[in-house]
Amino acid sequence: MPADTPILSLAAQADSALRAAFEAALGPQAAGADPIIRPSEHADYQANGLLALAKKLKGNPRELAGKVVAQLDGSPLFAHVEASGPGFVNLTFADTALAGQLAARGSDPKLGLGKAASRPVTVVDYSAPNIAKEMHVGHLRSTIIGDALVRLLTFSGSEVIRQNHVGDWGTQFGMLIEHLLENPDVAGGEEDGDTPTISRLAALYKAARARFNADEEFQTRSRQRVVALQSGDPETLAGWQEIVAESKTYFGEIYSKLGVLLTDEDIAGESSYNDELQGIADDLERRGVAVRSEGALCVFFDDVVDKDGKPVPFIIQKSDGGFGYPATDLATLRHRVRDLKAARLLYVVGSPQALHFKMVFETARRAGYLPEGVEAEHVQFGSVLGADGKPFKSREGETIRLISLLDEAVARARATIAERSPGLSAQAQEQRAQEVGIGAVKYADLSTSRTRDYVFDLDRMLSLQGNTGVYLQYAHARIRSMLARLAEAEAAPDGSEAPPLEPAERALVRTLDEFGATLDAVAESLEPHRLCAYLYALAQAFSDFYEACPVLKAPTAQIRARRVAICELTGDTLALGLSLLGIAAPERL
Ligand code: ARG
Repeated sequence: MPADTPILSLAAQADSALRAAFEAALGPQAAGADPIIRPSEHADYQANGLLALAKKLKGNPRELAGKVVAQLDGSPLFAHVEASGPGFVNLTFADTALAGQLAARGSDPKLGLGKAASRPVTVVDYSAPNIAKEMHVGHLRSTIIGDALVRLLTFSGSEVIRQNHVGDWGTQFGMLIEHLLENPDVAGGEEDGDTPTISRLAALYKAARARFNADEEFQTRSRQRVVALQSGDPETLAGWQEIVAESKTYFGEIYSKLGVLLTDEDIAGESSYNDELQGIADDLERRGVAVRSEGALCVFFDDVVDKDGKPVPFIIQKSDGGFGYPATDLATLRHRVRDLKAARLLYVVGSPQALHFKMVFETARRAGYLPEGVEAEHVQFGSVLGADGKPFKSREGETIRLISLLDEAVARARATIAERSPGLSAQAQEQRAQEVGIGAVKYADLSTSRTRDYVFDLDRMLSLQGNTGVYLQYAHARIRSMLARLAEAEAAPDGSEAPPLEPAERALVRTLDEFGATLDAVAESLEPHRLCAYLYALAQAFSDFYEACPVLKAPTAQIRARRVAICELTGDTLALGLSLLGIAAPERL
């Protein structure tokens, strides 16, 4: 039966049992005390809350623990409860409780996680590459992390609105459009399968840049183009649109290669806010949030100063009347709160922009665009480094093209799969290579604590050992193929009593049961690496179980059925966990 409300985890059940026991055994003063349920080496869980409670009650924690243990005597939830150490309570679940949990989760397509109370409308701003430029590894991180957060938050009950704030406006367009209009066949051209979109764009950018640097008259014409663009000259706009369309095609190619949820509909580029910028500036000035300083309209902050202690301006409108990134982001934020009705705004953008977002949020608070109760958060991430520990660049010092990194990852996966799974058809091998190669890159990114830098190392990413995507994909596929073999050798139940759960079985069921709490923690902290760590621990608990507890050759049919259920739930949990990270979990590898 699919549960609408999530099944309570064992830890949550232990928590409420202990709360009740505290109050019953120690009196009304113990009401509301947190029992602090933690995993334990000596039992399934341990309650540590009596140490703090004893201080409050001025009692001896060991004595209190004795009373709580007596109170819990006979509870059907636990097979064994004992006081230990300075005042801990060790909790061992009854086999029936573990088996019940296994059955309830296993029979629900949502694994008993149900749908939590509905959560706020959340806008996730991510990817946001710049038109007519290569996407770089920073955009890769934003795209991968943002995609995982979108999936996780949606699963945990939020209404999520994706926003791809592409950089599609700015003075660099003057030179691009000018060059394009003077050389009509440089971009467009006919669709040539061998020429990826980006090569044409890159060629346009390179050629325009070279001319701009060498030719003063071209410079002047380019500047006039910027003015023409801003005033909406049709021919200029058409050139701009051509470039934007070409870039979108390229971004779409990357997104489909990556298998992320972003589509063209999610694009709300900087240019879409152009008409609001003057209004924002006027409004901020009228409210006294922004003031004129040296001709520019600026916002100041007490705690944002340069090294001489001079306030650093947040420039809303330049002295020449132009607008930049700050004004656009304020218009964007206002739109998300006012029109999209967001209660939570997330910006998945690299750490170097921390100051920018601090100033955007603070300005928006002052101006009333960000009312009380609406939360805005800069979901920062660190840099991707090369093997030398420096920001990732090619040997020639150029920014490395994203697409070539992804292609290289897939090529290596192709080799691994050809070697390890020669039985798969050529077509299946190719699909697996995509799933494994892309999964490896995503997992390596997501499994590192978000704010840390990491080294882009394909050897490590594609290693079959350790905390990698490939390791988890293989762990999942092994379980599935084992279960498939089993289905062919069905045995009749023999009616005997099932003996107690083995320690490795208990440990695995307990780990499986912690999946929901892990997802809650990820949705709260916006840290996908916690889910990665959980899945890795789960795969390890499974491998301990599998070593200690034969499934195909289980001693009785009862034991086998129970182990099969454990294997199935492990497979389902790994598959769901990977899918929430945006990573494929093929049935066969
Ligand atoms: N296009 C920007 C860049 O490449 C990122 C935009 C992030 N989103 C935003 N609302 N500012 O750095």
